[in-house]
Amino acid sequence: MSTHAIVLDDLRFRWPGQAGWCLDIPRLEVAAGESIFLHGPSGSGKSTLLGILGGVALPQRGRVCVLGNELTQMNSGARDRLRASHIGFLFQQFNLLPWLSAIDNVLLPCTFSPTRKARASVAHDVRQEAERLLSQLDLTSSHWLKPAAELSVGQQQRVAAARALIGRPEIVIADEPTSALDAERQQIFIDLLLREISQESSVGGGKTTLVFVSHDQRLASRFDRTIDLCEVNRAMQAEAGMEQA
Ligand SMILES: Nc1ncnc2c1ncn2[C@@H]1O[C@H](COP(=O)(O)OP(=O)(O)OP(=O)(O)O)[C@@H](O)[C@H]1O
Ligand SMILES: [Mg+2]
Repeated sequence: MSTHAIVLDDLRFRWPGQAGWCLDIPRLEVAAGESIFLHGPSGSGKSTLLGILGGVALPQRGRVCVLGNELTQMNSGARDRLRASHIGFLFQQFNLLPWLSAIDNVLLPCTFSPTRKARASVAHDVRQEAERLLSQLDLTSSHWLKPAAELSVGQQQRVAAARALIGRPEIVIADEPTSALDAERQQIFIDLLLREISQESSVGGGKTTLVFVSHDQRLASRFDRTIDLCEVNRAMQAEAGMEQA
């Protein structure tokens, strides 16, 4: 079993219709259990990279190895299953189902993945686990049954966080997960996130790997390692060179 949760090799990605590469990353490794603070200017490709790690988008060239699975060799159904069972995705736009209650949104990964459901029900039933996560994120029972669309933006972000964490996925990918939170709730959120991911998984045995994108450099010291996307993405360096010329 590889000690790396994520390995990128000679990765190139271009959005349809774009002239140049959006991502050109010779090599990037993330160790299993490592927590990464990923930053870079707006438009530098952070969300695009996270989408590739989650198997939502595929690169035109190179290798993307996630938990020992070569994503470019898998069909979309297999990538969906890998994501549903092993990756907690916290999207920049939350992607909650607006008509579902907060708690049903949190429970969605357990509906799609028996693995996540089994892990979420180790200590108590899955609903209690969803309630525990929501409570820890300071969302009290008065919010649990409300449709997501009727929650404030900051509340929706916390529901999305609980959904990413439920069932203890091996990798959590978080795209600016604190952008809508006030300073106090940011700290509560980071504390919970780091506490949850540092617990040994009773099923997988290891700690959760975290890739956390944020513009807020003050948060960087809480993570094992900081990656500046401009430093690893040659496409950004080429762009900067063209601007200087
Ligand atoms: N769905 C898409 N179709 C075409 N181009 C896209 C798409 N999504 C992003 N891009 C382009 O890819 C580049 C990188 O965008 P991306 O969203 O990954 O940046 P980001 O670093 O996450 O920015 P931000 O900090 O603003 O969230 C941008 O030039 C953007 O215009
Ligand atoms: Mg983004």
